[in-house]
Amino acid sequence: MSLFADLIPAAWEVRERAYAPYSHFQVGAALLGADGVVYRGCNVENLSYGLTVCAERHAVAQAVAAGCRRFLALVVAVDTRAPVAPCGACRQVLAEFGDLPILLATRHQSEETSLAALLPRAFTGSLEQL
Ligand code: THU
Repeated sequence: MSLFADLIPAAWEVRERAYAPYSHFQVGAALLGADGVVYRGCNVENLSYGLTVCAERHAVAQAVAAGCRRFLALVVAVDTRAPVAPCGACRQVLAEFGDLPILLATRHQSEETSLAALLPRAFTGSLEQL
Protein backbone atom coordinates (compact mmCIF):
# COMPACT_ATOMS: atom_id res chain seq x y z
CA MET A 1 0.00 0.00 0.00
CA SER A 2 1.43 3.38 -1.02
CA LEU A 3 2.36 5.89 1.67
CA PHE A 4 0.27 8.35 -0.30
CA ALA A 5 -2.98 6.34 -0.24
CA ASP A 6 -4.66 7.99 2.76
CA LEU A 7 -3.13 11.37 2.00
CA ILE A 8 -4.70 11.85 -1.42
CA PRO A 9 -8.35 12.08 -0.32
CA ALA A 10 -7.30 14.11 2.74
CA ALA A 11 -5.52 16.69 0.57
CA TRP A 12 -8.53 17.09 -1.73
CA GLU A 13 -10.89 17.36 1.23
CA VAL A 14 -8.94 20.07 3.04
CA ARG A 15 -8.43 21.93 -0.25
CA GLU A 16 -12.19 22.59 -0.21
CA ARG A 17 -11.66 24.68 2.92
CA ALA A 18 -8.96 26.88 1.42
CA TYR A 19 -9.60 30.59 1.97
CA ALA A 20 -8.49 32.06 -1.34
CA PRO A 21 -10.76 35.00 -2.22
CA TYR A 22 -7.91 36.93 -3.89
CA SER A 23 -6.11 34.36 -6.03
CA HIS A 24 -9.00 31.88 -6.31
CA PHE A 25 -6.25 29.25 -6.28
CA GLN A 26 -7.08 26.61 -3.71
CA VAL A 27 -4.36 24.31 -2.40
CA GLY A 28 -4.68 21.29 -0.12
CA ALA A 29 -1.81 19.57 1.67
CA ALA A 30 -1.81 16.34 3.65
CA LEU A 31 1.23 15.31 5.64
CA LEU A 32 1.71 11.84 7.09
CA GLY A 33 3.35 12.02 10.51
CA ALA A 34 5.60 9.26 11.82
CA ASP A 35 2.90 8.91 14.49
CA GLY A 36 0.50 7.68 11.78
CA VAL A 37 -1.67 10.78 11.91
CA VAL A 38 -2.58 12.67 8.72
CA TYR A 39 -2.09 16.42 9.25
CA ARG A 40 -3.93 18.73 6.86
CA GLY A 41 -3.44 22.26 5.67
CA CYS A 42 -5.04 24.62 3.19
CA ASN A 43 -3.95 28.06 2.03
CA VAL A 44 -5.31 30.97 4.05
CA GLU A 45 -5.10 34.30 2.23
CA ASN A 46 -5.26 37.79 3.66
CA LEU A 47 -6.19 41.22 2.35
CA SER A 48 -2.61 42.13 3.21
CA TYR A 49 -1.44 39.63 0.59
CA GLY A 50 1.99 38.93 2.06
CA LEU A 51 0.42 37.47 5.17
CA THR A 52 -0.98 34.53 3.22
CA VAL A 53 -0.16 31.11 4.63
CA CYS A 54 0.45 28.32 2.12
CA ALA A 55 -1.22 24.93 2.50
CA GLU A 56 2.07 23.09 3.04
CA ARG A 57 3.26 25.35 5.87
CA HIS A 58 -0.19 25.17 7.43
CA ALA A 59 0.03 21.36 7.48
CA VAL A 60 3.52 21.47 9.02
CA ALA A 61 2.29 23.84 11.74
CA GLN A 62 -0.68 21.58 12.49
CA ALA A 63 1.67 18.62 12.92
CA VAL A 64 4.17 20.47 15.09
CA ALA A 65 1.39 21.87 17.28
CA ALA A 66 0.16 18.30 17.80
CA GLY A 67 3.65 17.22 18.87
CA CYS A 68 4.75 15.54 15.62
CA ARG A 69 8.04 16.54 13.98
CA ARG A 70 8.82 13.51 11.84
CA PHE A 71 7.12 13.22 8.50
CA LEU A 72 6.83 10.28 6.12
CA ALA A 73 5.08 11.71 3.05
CA LEU A 74 3.27 14.77 1.68
CA VAL A 75 0.53 15.17 -0.91
CA VAL A 76 -0.23 18.56 -2.45
CA ALA A 77 -3.53 18.81 -4.35
CA VAL A 78 -4.33 21.54 -6.87
CA ASP A 79 -6.88 21.78 -9.66
CA THR A 80 -4.54 22.58 -12.55
CA ARG A 81 -3.73 20.71 -15.73
CA ALA A 82 -0.13 19.96 -14.80
CA PRO A 83 1.16 19.20 -11.30
CA VAL A 84 2.32 22.16 -9.21
CA ALA A 85 5.27 22.00 -6.80
CA PRO A 86 5.46 23.76 -3.40
CA CYS A 87 6.89 27.30 -3.34
CA GLY A 88 10.44 27.93 -2.21
CA ALA A 89 9.41 29.11 1.25
CA CYS A 90 7.44 25.92 1.89
CA ARG A 91 10.33 23.79 0.63
CA GLN A 92 12.65 25.43 3.15
CA VAL A 93 10.14 24.97 5.99
CA LEU A 94 9.73 21.29 5.10
CA ALA A 95 13.53 20.88 4.91
CA GLU A 96 13.73 21.78 8.60
CA PHE A 97 12.32 18.33 9.31
CA GLY A 98 14.24 16.29 6.71
CA ASP A 99 13.64 14.75 3.32
CA LEU A 100 10.34 13.12 2.42
CA PRO A 101 8.53 11.76 -0.64
CA ILE A 102 6.04 14.19 -2.17
CA LEU A 103 3.13 13.53 -4.51
CA LEU A 104 2.00 16.48 -6.62
CA ALA A 105 -1.62 15.69 -7.40
CA THR A 106 -4.08 17.15 -9.90
CA ARG A 107 -7.39 15.69 -10.99
CA HIS A 108 -5.77 14.44 -14.18
CA GLN A 109 -2.30 13.28 -13.25
CA SER A 110 0.10 12.93 -10.35
CA GLU A 111 3.84 13.27 -10.16
CA GLU A 112 5.98 11.70 -7.49
CA THR A 113 9.04 13.59 -6.35
CA SER A 114 10.89 14.31 -3.11
CA LEU A 115 11.92 17.32 -1.10
CA ALA A 116 15.58 16.60 -1.82
CA ALA A 117 14.80 16.71 -5.55
CA LEU A 118 12.84 19.97 -5.22
CA LEU A 119 15.33 21.65 -2.89
CA PRO A 120 18.84 20.33 -3.45
CA ARG A 121 21.40 21.64 -0.98
CA ALA A 122 18.79 23.11 1.33
CA PHE A 123 20.08 25.56 3.90
CA THR A 124 20.85 23.52 7.01
CA GLY A 125 23.00 26.13 8.76
CA SER A 126 22.87 25.83 12.50
CA LEU A 127 20.90 22.57 12.30
CA GLU A 128 24.29 20.95 11.66
CA GLN A 129 25.31 21.91 15.20
CA LEU A 130 22.25 20.45 16.93
N1 THU B 1 0.11 28.53 -2.36
C1 THU B 1 0.17 27.45 -1.55
O1 THU B 1 -0.74 27.20 -0.75
N2 THU B 1 1.25 26.64 -1.64
C2 THU B 1 2.33 26.87 -2.44
O2 THU B 1 3.30 26.13 -2.40
C3 THU B 1 2.33 28.02 -3.35
C4 THU B 1 1.14 28.89 -3.32
C5 THU B 1 -1.06 29.42 -2.28
C6 THU B 1 -0.75 30.79 -1.76
C7 THU B 1 -1.86 31.60 -2.37
O3 THU B 1 -2.98 31.55 -1.51
C8 THU B 1 -2.21 30.87 -3.65
O4 THU B 1 -1.61 29.60 -3.55
C9 THU B 1 -1.74 31.57 -4.89
O5 THU B 1 -0.39 31.83 -4.84
